[in-house]
Amino acid sequence: MNPEANSDEAREMDLARQKDEAREKIDACADSAALKDVERHYLGRKGIVASALAGIGQLPPDERKDAGQNANRLKQAIQELVDARARVLDETSLAAERSGAGFDPTLPAARLESGSLHPVTQVTRELEDLFLSMGYSVLDGPEVELDHYNFEALNIPADHPARDSHDTFFCTAEGSKDAAEQLVMRTHTSPVQVRAMEQLEPPFRVIAPGRCFRQETTDASHDHTFYQMEGMVVGRDISVGHLIGAMRTLLRGIFKQDLDVRLRPGYFPFVEPGFELDARCPFCEDGCSVCKRTTWIELLPCGLVHPNVLRAGGIDSDIWSGFAFGLGLSRLVMLRYGVDDVRHLFGGDLRFLEQF
Ligand code: PHE
Repeated sequence: MNPEANSDEAREMDLARQKDEAREKIDACADSAALKDVERHYLGRKGIVASALAGIGQLPPDERKDAGQNANRLKQAIQELVDARARVLDETSLAAERSGAGFDPTLPAARLESGSLHPVTQVTRELEDLFLSMGYSVLDGPEVELDHYNFEALNIPADHPARDSHDTFFCTAEGSKDAAEQLVMRTHTSPVQVRAMEQLEPPFRVIAPGRCFRQETTDASHDHTFYQMEGMVVGRDISVGHLIGAMRTLLRGIFKQDLDVRLRPGYFPFVEPGFELDARCPFCEDGCSVCKRTTWIELLPCGLVHPNVLRAGGIDSDIWSGFAFGLGLSRLVMLRYGVDDVRHLFGGDLRFLEQF
Protein backbone atom coordinates (compact mmCIF):
# COMPACT_ATOMS: atom_id res chain seq x y z
CA MET A 1 0.00 0.00 0.00
CA ASN A 2 1.46 3.36 -0.83
CA PRO A 3 1.57 5.88 1.96
CA GLU A 4 -0.50 8.44 0.09
CA ALA A 5 -3.47 6.12 -0.28
CA ASN A 6 -3.05 5.38 3.33
CA SER A 7 -3.40 8.98 4.46
CA ASP A 8 -6.41 9.48 2.10
CA GLU A 9 -8.13 6.58 3.71
CA ALA A 10 -7.33 7.90 7.14
CA ARG A 11 -8.91 11.20 6.25
CA GLU A 12 -12.04 9.51 4.87
CA MET A 13 -12.31 7.52 8.07
CA ASP A 14 -11.91 10.62 10.16
CA LEU A 15 -14.59 12.40 8.16
CA ALA A 16 -17.01 9.51 8.51
CA ARG A 17 -16.33 9.27 12.24
CA GLN A 18 -16.94 12.96 12.80
CA LYS A 19 -20.09 12.85 10.74
CA ASP A 20 -21.43 9.87 12.74
CA GLU A 21 -20.64 11.61 15.96
CA ALA A 22 -22.45 14.74 14.80
CA ARG A 23 -25.45 12.70 13.64
CA GLU A 24 -25.73 11.12 17.07
CA LYS A 25 -25.67 14.47 18.82
CA ILE A 26 -28.11 16.05 16.39
CA ASP A 27 -30.62 13.22 16.60
CA ALA A 28 -30.50 13.41 20.38
CA CYS A 29 -31.71 17.03 20.36
CA ALA A 30 -35.17 17.22 21.86
CA ASP A 31 -35.92 20.84 21.04
CA SER A 32 -34.73 23.62 18.83
CA ALA A 33 -32.67 25.26 21.59
CA ALA A 34 -30.58 22.10 22.01
CA LEU A 35 -30.25 21.86 18.23
CA LYS A 36 -28.99 25.42 18.07
CA ASP A 37 -26.27 24.53 20.61
CA VAL A 38 -25.09 21.53 18.60
CA GLU A 39 -25.16 23.56 15.42
CA ARG A 40 -23.01 26.21 17.06
CA HIS A 41 -20.60 23.54 18.37
CA TYR A 42 -19.90 22.34 14.82
CA LEU A 43 -20.67 25.22 12.50
CA GLY A 44 -20.32 28.29 14.70
CA ARG A 45 -17.65 30.92 14.27
CA LYS A 46 -15.38 29.09 16.74
CA GLY A 47 -16.80 25.63 15.98
CA ILE A 48 -15.08 22.44 14.89
CA VAL A 49 -15.39 23.07 11.17
CA ALA A 50 -14.11 26.61 11.47
CA SER A 51 -11.03 25.53 13.41
CA ALA A 52 -10.35 22.71 10.95
CA LEU A 53 -10.44 25.26 8.13
CA ALA A 54 -8.21 27.61 10.11
CA GLY A 55 -5.64 24.83 10.67
CA ILE A 56 -5.22 24.11 6.96
CA GLY A 57 -2.54 26.73 6.60
CA GLN A 58 -0.26 24.71 8.89
CA LEU A 59 -0.44 21.56 6.70
CA PRO A 60 2.16 20.67 4.06
CA PRO A 61 1.09 22.33 0.82
CA ASP A 62 0.17 19.09 -0.98
CA GLU A 63 -2.32 18.14 1.73
CA ARG A 64 -4.11 21.49 1.93
CA LYS A 65 -6.48 20.93 -0.98
CA ASP A 66 -7.84 17.61 0.30
CA ALA A 67 -8.09 18.87 3.84
CA GLY A 68 -10.06 21.90 2.67
CA GLN A 69 -12.44 19.77 0.63
CA ASN A 70 -12.98 17.42 3.55
CA ALA A 71 -13.76 20.21 5.96
CA ASN A 72 -16.26 21.64 3.51
CA ARG A 73 -17.89 18.27 2.96
CA LEU A 74 -18.22 17.85 6.70
CA LYS A 75 -19.73 21.30 6.98
CA GLN A 76 -22.31 20.59 4.29
CA ALA A 77 -23.16 17.17 5.73
CA ILE A 78 -23.71 18.59 9.21
CA GLN A 79 -25.80 21.47 7.89
CA GLU A 80 -28.07 18.96 6.12
CA LEU A 81 -28.43 16.89 9.29
CA VAL A 82 -29.28 19.99 11.33
CA ASP A 83 -31.88 21.17 8.79
CA ALA A 84 -33.51 17.75 8.66
CA ARG A 85 -33.68 17.58 12.45
CA ALA A 86 -35.16 21.09 12.61
CA ARG A 87 -37.97 20.05 10.26
CA VAL A 88 -38.75 17.02 12.41
CA LEU A 89 -38.81 19.13 15.58
CA ASP A 90 -41.10 21.72 13.94
CA GLU A 91 -43.54 19.07 12.86
CA THR A 92 -43.68 17.40 16.25
CA SER A 93 -44.33 20.65 18.05
CA LEU A 94 -47.06 21.55 15.53
CA ALA A 95 -48.60 18.11 15.95
CA ALA A 96 -48.53 18.51 19.72
CA GLU A 97 -50.27 21.87 19.42
CA ARG A 98 -52.91 20.41 17.11
CA SER A 99 -53.53 17.43 19.36
CA GLY A 100 -54.59 19.91 22.03
CA ALA A 101 -51.84 19.30 24.54
CA GLY A 102 -51.18 22.62 26.21
CA PHE A 103 -54.06 24.29 24.41
CA ASP A 104 -56.23 26.30 26.79
CA PRO A 105 -59.56 27.30 25.23
CA THR A 106 -60.35 29.62 28.15
CA LEU A 107 -57.51 32.01 27.33
CA PRO A 108 -58.68 35.34 25.81
CA ALA A 109 -58.36 35.51 22.04
CA ALA A 110 -55.83 37.81 20.42
CA ARG A 111 -57.28 41.31 20.39
CA LEU A 112 -58.66 42.44 17.04
CA GLU A 113 -57.28 45.85 16.19
CA SER A 114 -60.03 48.08 14.92
CA GLY A 115 -59.74 51.64 13.72
CA SER A 116 -62.03 54.54 14.54
CA LEU A 117 -63.46 57.46 12.63
CA HIS A 118 -61.28 60.51 12.39
CA PRO A 119 -62.39 63.21 14.86
CA VAL A 120 -63.18 65.58 11.97
CA THR A 121 -65.40 62.89 10.44
CA GLN A 122 -67.09 62.29 13.79
CA VAL A 123 -67.89 65.98 14.31
CA THR A 124 -68.98 66.37 10.67
CA ARG A 125 -71.43 63.49 10.97
CA GLU A 126 -72.78 64.79 14.26
CA LEU A 127 -73.40 68.23 12.74
CA GLU A 128 -74.96 66.71 9.62
CA ASP A 129 -77.43 64.84 11.83
CA LEU A 130 -78.20 68.00 13.72
CA PHE A 131 -78.82 70.07 10.59
CA LEU A 132 -80.81 67.29 8.91
CA SER A 133 -83.08 67.35 11.96
CA MET A 134 -83.53 71.10 11.38
CA GLY A 135 -84.66 70.54 7.78
CA TYR A 136 -81.36 71.25 6.01
CA SER A 137 -79.98 69.11 3.21
CA VAL A 138 -76.31 68.18 2.89
CA LEU A 139 -74.54 69.23 -0.31
CA ASP A 140 -71.16 68.46 -1.73
CA GLY A 141 -69.01 70.56 -4.05
CA PRO A 142 -65.75 70.11 -5.95
CA GLU A 143 -62.43 70.77 -4.21
CA VAL A 144 -60.90 71.96 -7.46
CA GLU A 145 -63.17 74.85 -8.24
CA LEU A 146 -63.69 77.39 -10.97
CA ASP A 147 -62.63 80.91 -10.13
CA HIS A 148 -66.21 81.86 -10.94
CA TYR A 149 -67.63 79.89 -8.01
CA ASN A 150 -64.81 80.46 -5.56
CA PHE A 151 -64.63 84.24 -6.11
CA GLU A 152 -66.50 85.90 -8.95
CA ALA A 153 -70.05 84.82 -8.14
CA LEU A 154 -69.38 85.51 -4.45
CA ASN A 155 -68.99 89.21 -5.17
CA ILE A 156 -65.19 88.95 -5.18
CA PRO A 157 -64.27 90.05 -8.71
CA ALA A 158 -60.68 89.90 -10.02
CA ASP A 159 -58.62 92.70 -8.45
CA HIS A 160 -60.90 92.81 -5.40
CA PRO A 161 -58.66 93.36 -2.37
CA ALA A 162 -60.44 90.53 -0.49
CA ARG A 163 -58.66 88.08 -2.80
CA ASP A 164 -55.42 88.91 -1.00
CA SER A 165 -56.66 87.30 2.20
CA HIS A 166 -57.24 84.02 0.35
CA ASP A 167 -53.75 82.69 -0.31
CA THR A 168 -54.92 80.68 -3.23
CA PHE A 169 -53.38 77.57 -4.82
CA PHE A 170 -53.88 78.12 -8.54
CA CYS A 171 -54.29 75.03 -10.70
CA THR A 172 -53.78 76.97 -13.90
CA ALA A 173 -51.16 79.73 -13.99
CA GLU A 174 -52.65 82.84 -12.46
CA GLY A 175 -54.07 85.14 -15.11
CA SER A 176 -53.09 82.74 -17.92
CA LYS A 177 -56.68 82.05 -18.79
CA ASP A 178 -59.90 83.83 -19.05
CA ALA A 179 -60.86 84.50 -15.43
CA ALA A 180 -63.99 82.41 -15.85
CA GLU A 181 -61.96 79.30 -16.75
CA GLN A 182 -59.30 79.69 -14.09
CA LEU A 183 -59.17 76.66 -11.75
CA VAL A 184 -58.25 77.00 -8.09
CA MET A 185 -58.17 74.75 -5.04
CA ARG A 186 -61.21 76.10 -3.27
CA THR A 187 -60.21 78.44 -0.45
CA HIS A 188 -63.52 78.04 1.41
CA THR A 189 -66.77 76.09 1.15
CA SER A 190 -68.69 79.23 0.10
CA PRO A 191 -68.65 78.28 -3.64
CA VAL A 192 -71.18 75.61 -2.71
CA GLN A 193 -73.59 78.47 -1.91
CA VAL A 194 -73.58 79.38 -5.60
CA ARG A 195 -73.93 75.77 -6.69
CA ALA A 196 -76.84 75.37 -4.27
CA MET A 197 -78.64 78.39 -5.72
CA GLU A 198 -78.17 76.99 -9.22
CA GLN A 199 -79.48 73.54 -8.27
CA LEU A 200 -82.33 74.32 -5.89
CA GLU A 201 -85.50 76.35 -5.99
CA PRO A 202 -85.92 78.68 -3.02
CA PRO A 203 -86.84 78.40 -0.24
CA PHE A 204 -84.06 76.01 0.81
CA ARG A 205 -81.62 75.28 3.63
CA VAL A 206 -78.32 73.56 2.99
CA ILE A 207 -75.04 72.76 4.64
CA ALA A 208 -71.87 71.78 2.79
CA PRO A 209 -69.01 70.31 4.79
CA GLY A 210 -65.68 69.84 3.05
CA ARG A 211 -62.01 70.35 2.61
CA CYS A 212 -60.48 73.71 1.76
CA PHE A 213 -56.97 74.80 0.86
CA ARG A 214 -54.87 77.88 1.38
CA GLN A 215 -51.28 78.47 0.53
CA GLU A 216 -50.35 79.37 4.04
CA THR A 217 -47.29 79.03 6.25
CA THR A 218 -48.37 76.39 8.74
CA ASP A 219 -48.28 76.93 12.47
CA ALA A 220 -50.24 75.69 15.48
CA SER A 221 -53.44 77.34 14.27
CA HIS A 222 -53.03 77.35 10.47
CA ASP A 223 -52.81 74.48 8.05
CA HIS A 224 -52.79 74.57 4.26
CA THR A 225 -55.63 72.03 4.26
CA PHE A 226 -58.56 72.37 6.61
CA TYR A 227 -62.28 71.69 6.91
CA GLN A 228 -65.21 74.05 6.88
CA MET A 229 -68.95 73.62 6.95
CA GLU A 230 -70.88 76.11 4.93
CA GLY A 231 -74.49 76.88 5.75
CA MET A 232 -77.03 78.74 3.63
CA VAL A 233 -80.69 79.45 4.12
CA VAL A 234 -82.75 81.23 1.46
CA GLY A 235 -86.35 82.21 2.09
CA ARG A 236 -88.71 85.15 2.37
CA ASP A 237 -87.85 87.92 4.84
CA ILE A 238 -84.86 86.13 6.31
CA SER A 239 -83.36 88.33 9.00
CA VAL A 240 -80.41 88.47 11.40
CA GLY A 241 -82.83 87.11 14.02
CA HIS A 242 -83.18 83.88 12.03
CA LEU A 243 -79.42 83.66 11.78
CA ILE A 244 -78.95 84.07 15.53
CA GLY A 245 -81.69 81.55 16.27
CA ALA A 246 -80.11 78.94 14.00
CA MET A 247 -76.68 79.51 15.52
CA ARG A 248 -78.00 79.09 19.08
CA THR A 249 -79.57 75.78 18.10
CA LEU A 250 -76.27 74.78 16.53
CA LEU A 251 -74.40 75.62 19.75
CA ARG A 252 -76.86 73.66 21.87
CA GLY A 253 -76.24 70.68 19.60
CA ILE A 254 -72.48 70.97 19.81
CA PHE A 255 -71.93 71.88 23.46
CA LYS A 256 -75.14 70.41 24.97
CA GLN A 257 -75.95 73.68 26.73
CA ASP A 258 -77.51 77.05 25.95
CA LEU A 259 -74.77 79.57 25.26
CA ASP A 260 -75.14 83.32 24.77
CA VAL A 261 -73.93 84.67 21.46
CA ARG A 262 -72.80 88.11 20.35
CA LEU A 263 -72.18 89.58 16.92
CA ARG A 264 -69.24 91.75 15.96
CA PRO A 265 -69.08 93.39 12.55
CA GLY A 266 -67.05 91.36 10.05
CA TYR A 267 -66.33 91.98 6.40
CA PHE A 268 -66.91 89.35 3.72
CA PRO A 269 -67.87 90.56 0.24
CA PHE A 270 -70.65 87.94 -0.12
CA VAL A 271 -72.63 88.97 2.97
CA GLU A 272 -74.15 92.28 3.97
CA PRO A 273 -74.23 92.89 6.85
CA GLY A 274 -71.41 90.51 7.78
CA PHE A 275 -70.52 89.38 11.28
CA GLU A 276 -68.16 87.43 13.43
CA LEU A 277 -70.28 85.41 15.81
CA ASP A 278 -68.86 84.73 19.27
CA ALA A 279 -70.27 82.33 21.84
CA ARG A 280 -69.89 82.38 25.60
CA CYS A 281 -67.01 80.07 26.51
CA PRO A 282 -68.54 76.69 27.38
CA PHE A 283 -65.50 75.71 29.45
CA CYS A 284 -65.37 78.41 32.10
CA GLU A 285 -67.20 81.26 33.82
CA ASP A 286 -64.51 83.82 34.30
CA GLY A 287 -61.84 83.18 31.72
CA CYS A 288 -59.64 80.24 30.79
CA SER A 289 -56.92 79.41 28.29
CA VAL A 290 -59.44 78.33 25.61
CA CYS A 291 -61.19 81.73 25.55
CA LYS A 292 -57.88 83.50 26.24
CA ARG A 293 -59.45 84.88 29.45
CA THR A 294 -62.14 86.81 27.53
CA THR A 295 -65.05 84.41 28.29
CA TRP A 296 -65.96 84.58 24.58
CA ILE A 297 -64.85 82.24 21.84
CA GLU A 298 -64.80 83.26 18.22
CA LEU A 299 -67.09 80.72 16.64
CA LEU A 300 -67.90 81.56 13.05
CA PRO A 301 -68.20 84.24 10.37
CA CYS A 302 -71.70 84.78 8.98
CA GLY A 303 -74.12 87.32 7.59
CA LEU A 304 -77.06 88.01 5.32
CA VAL A 305 -76.50 86.94 1.74
CA HIS A 306 -75.47 89.90 -0.43
CA PRO A 307 -78.05 90.68 -3.15
CA ASN A 308 -75.28 90.47 -5.79
CA VAL A 309 -74.66 86.88 -4.73
CA LEU A 310 -78.36 85.97 -4.91
CA ARG A 311 -78.47 87.46 -8.40
CA ALA A 312 -75.29 85.63 -9.47
CA GLY A 313 -77.04 82.44 -8.36
CA GLY A 314 -80.11 83.25 -10.45
CA ILE A 315 -82.34 84.20 -7.52
CA ASP A 316 -84.55 87.29 -7.48
CA SER A 317 -83.18 89.36 -4.61
CA ASP A 318 -86.38 91.44 -4.44
CA ILE A 319 -88.33 88.37 -3.38
CA TRP A 320 -85.76 86.25 -1.59
CA SER A 321 -83.22 86.86 1.11
CA GLY A 322 -80.98 84.59 3.10
CA PHE A 323 -78.21 84.05 5.61
CA ALA A 324 -74.97 82.14 5.35
CA PHE A 325 -72.29 81.01 7.74
CA GLY A 326 -68.92 79.30 7.53
CA LEU A 327 -68.05 77.04 10.43
CA GLY A 328 -64.40 76.09 10.85
CA LEU A 329 -64.66 72.34 11.42
CA SER A 330 -61.00 71.81 12.24
CA ARG A 331 -61.19 74.58 14.81
CA LEU A 332 -64.35 73.14 16.30
CA VAL A 333 -62.71 69.74 16.69
CA MET A 334 -59.79 71.41 18.45
CA LEU A 335 -62.14 73.24 20.81
CA ARG A 336 -64.17 70.15 21.53
CA TYR A 337 -61.23 67.86 22.30
CA GLY A 338 -58.70 70.39 23.59
CA VAL A 339 -56.25 69.85 20.71
CA ASP A 340 -53.64 72.61 20.81
CA ASP A 341 -52.11 72.25 17.35
CA VAL A 342 -54.08 71.82 14.08
CA ARG A 343 -51.20 69.97 12.54
CA HIS A 344 -51.95 67.00 14.82
CA LEU A 345 -55.24 66.47 13.00
CA PHE A 346 -53.74 65.33 9.72
CA GLY A 347 -50.20 64.49 10.80
CA GLY A 348 -51.09 60.80 10.58
CA ASP A 349 -49.60 59.98 14.00
CA LEU A 350 -51.44 56.92 15.35
CA ARG A 351 -50.66 57.91 18.95
CA PHE A 352 -52.88 60.95 18.31
CA LEU A 353 -55.57 59.22 16.24
CA GLU A 354 -56.01 56.26 18.58
CA GLN A 355 -57.40 58.60 21.24
CA PHE A 356 -60.65 59.08 19.34
N1 PHE B 1 -66.09 81.77 3.46
C1 PHE B 1 -65.64 82.62 4.52
C2 PHE B 1 -64.20 82.27 4.83
O1 PHE B 1 -63.79 81.18 4.70
C3 PHE B 1 -66.48 82.47 5.76
C4 PHE B 1 -67.91 82.90 5.61
C5 PHE B 1 -68.87 82.01 5.18
C6 PHE B 1 -68.28 84.17 5.94
C7 PHE B 1 -70.18 82.40 5.08
C8 PHE B 1 -69.61 84.58 5.85
C9 PHE B 1 -70.54 83.69 5.41
O2 PHE B 1 -63.45 83.12 5.22
